[in-house]
Amino acid sequence: MITEIRKIDKNQIDREAMSWAGEIIRQGGLVAFPTETVYGLGADARNASAAKKIYEAKGRPSDNPLIVHIAEYQSLSELAKEVTPEARLLAETFWPGPLTLIVKKNDTVPNETTGGLDTVAVRMPDHSVALELIRQGGGYIAAPSANTSGKPSPTRAEHVAFDLDGKIPLILDGGPVGVGIESTIVDLTGDCPMILRPGYITREMLAEVIGDVKVDPALAAADSVEKPRAPGMKYRHYAPQAELVLVDGDPERVVDKINELADTAIAAGWKVGIIGTDETILRYSRGETVSIGTRRDEDGIAQNLYRILREFDDRKVDKIYSECFSDLRIGQAVMNRLLKAAAFHIVEV
Ligand code: TXA
Ligand code: MG
Repeated sequence: MITEIRKIDKNQIDREAMSWAGEIIRQGGLVAFPTETVYGLGADARNASAAKKIYEAKGRPSDNPLIVHIAEYQSLSELAKEVTPEARLLAETFWPGPLTLIVKKNDTVPNETTGGLDTVAVRMPDHSVALELIRQGGGYIAAPSANTSGKPSPTRAEHVAFDLDGKIPLILDGGPVGVGIESTIVDLTGDCPMILRPGYITREMLAEVIGDVKVDPALAAADSVEKPRAPGMKYRHYAPQAELVLVDGDPERVVDKINELADTAIAAGWKVGIIGTDETILRYSRGETVSIGTRRDEDGIAQNLYRILREFDDRKVDKIYSECFSDLRIGQAVMNRLLKAAAFHIVEV
């Protein structure tokens, strides 16, 4: 299959290209598209065989459910068994935006879309290209991140092309995304709302709107006996090819430790990458050093994370040593991705 890449200006949408993209979706095909978080790989959410194609293209385990993307508030009630007051409040406050709600599904949502679960994940993305594709494609687009399963999520159309070239007919190129990490997922089907995946919308932001919000205890540690409630969170994920090691603690000691680990690895013949910040980067003088941005611009750090992991893959680095970002507002979400990419390998100094 030839993969076409079409540039779409999000401020001046090419109607003809979008109606073609919508046609592909309505006929059961796949289209990759930009959202404000990461690029998605879309198919008609109400067409079971279209949803199956997503799993094939990504090499994704079929028990890992998909998020259904909508463009109208009304569409939530077409998918959900019931829209609770909490769901309505969160949708009104944060949609369009990087928040996914898990609700009980009704019979119009095929099991292929939800990995056999009786719940469905729904979000309204904040991106004009995504919203137009949803409208043109019939109103309901199932889409995971548009990467090969297990790889870092794509934040640019080039990343999608690298992973999926020849496997899908069309990539809509809307340029680099804004947020850079996937949406916050909150499960509204239990006694208390629970965050299953941290993201740009934090627990505090949710709590301001609906009161008490829990965090899935399984997110806390690698050796947790808890089983993550979002099936996708159990896989090694977001991972670069290199071995990633995180170093946390007093900033001075972190720099020294990373330099020491890098020296040892280089002496052993490995190609080394280092992820620092604008504040520290000049103090790393060996290996391939990259700044993820300044600690004063935490949104920028989230935006750069996946691109940097992919660039280290391109450079065929064997080991990556990275600083940690737990103290930032969005740090919980960034650390969640880094810890998974590092398979929870963290050195405390
Ligand atoms: O920002 C995003 O959410 C991006 C863009 C494309 O919208 N999408 C995304 O999709 O990250 P994906 O498939 O890579 O991650 C979806 C996560 C998986 O961990 C999956 O297990 C979980 O959502 N999930 C989906 N439906 C669920 C359900 N009914 N119950 C629990 N977890 C669910
Ligand atoms: Mg994903």
